[in-house]
Amino acid sequence: MNTKLIAPSLLAADFANLQRDIEMVNQSDADWFHIDIMDGVFVPNISYGMPVLEAITKHTKKTVDVHLMIVDPDKYISTFKKLGTNNLTVHYEACTHLHRTLQAIKSEGMKAGVALNPHTNVNLLEDIINDIDIVLIMSVNPGFGGQSFIENTYTKIKNLKELIVKKGAKTLIEVDGGVSADNAKTLIDAGADVLVAGSFVFKSTNQIQTISELKTLANS
Ligand code: DX5
Ligand code: ZN
Repeated sequence: MNTKLIAPSLLAADFANLQRDIEMVNQSDADWFHIDIMDGVFVPNISYGMPVLEAITKHTKKTVDVHLMIVDPDKYISTFKKLGTNNLTVHYEACTHLHRTLQAIKSEGMKAGVALNPHTNVNLLEDIINDIDIVLIMSVNPGFGGQSFIENTYTKIKNLKELIVKKGAKTLIEVDGGVSADNAKTLIDAGADVLVAGSFVFKSTNQIQTISELKTLANS
């Protein structure tokens, strides 16, 4: 079985000590940096934008996984590449021409991801799953960290995994929102490949140990 990955979400980091928190992730068992970009239109919150991402990627030594919660993501695809993005994920609900958007992301040399809001059925991806590198299943409503996990996520992961297997796709399943040591193993057993965790990591007293605990649970 492939190694299951852990992606701490910097949204829960201490922004006044961002470099310190990035170095912590660099030194930990984490695999990816998960970076949430919100525009206040697609979601009811604004996080941070290009200048902050540029500062972040000067220090990151691992895969930079950018989750765009913005309308009209097509406008910024090449900008995100220039800022050091490795994986670029757009929301299904924000893309009228999803196929075109995914091709544009891949033509920049990035992995292409599609995020699904909690109400969006995974079977809507049936005709495009073979073009998607990563499906990001939102297990909370996007916009804020620290929310509680939506239990229907397990069913969505299982259905998506079935679709991926049926279509012979190589797509990774990433889960984002309310992930902790309590649900990590169940999410992996349902079919998840990558676990995003914000508050659970950054609000813990020993962050390195918390990441290592998640990594062990995910690969047990
Ligand atoms: C929410 C973001 C998440 C968030 C997760 O819109 O996409 O990445 O940082 O935070 P937690 O792990 O605290 O739910
Ligand atoms: Zn996210």
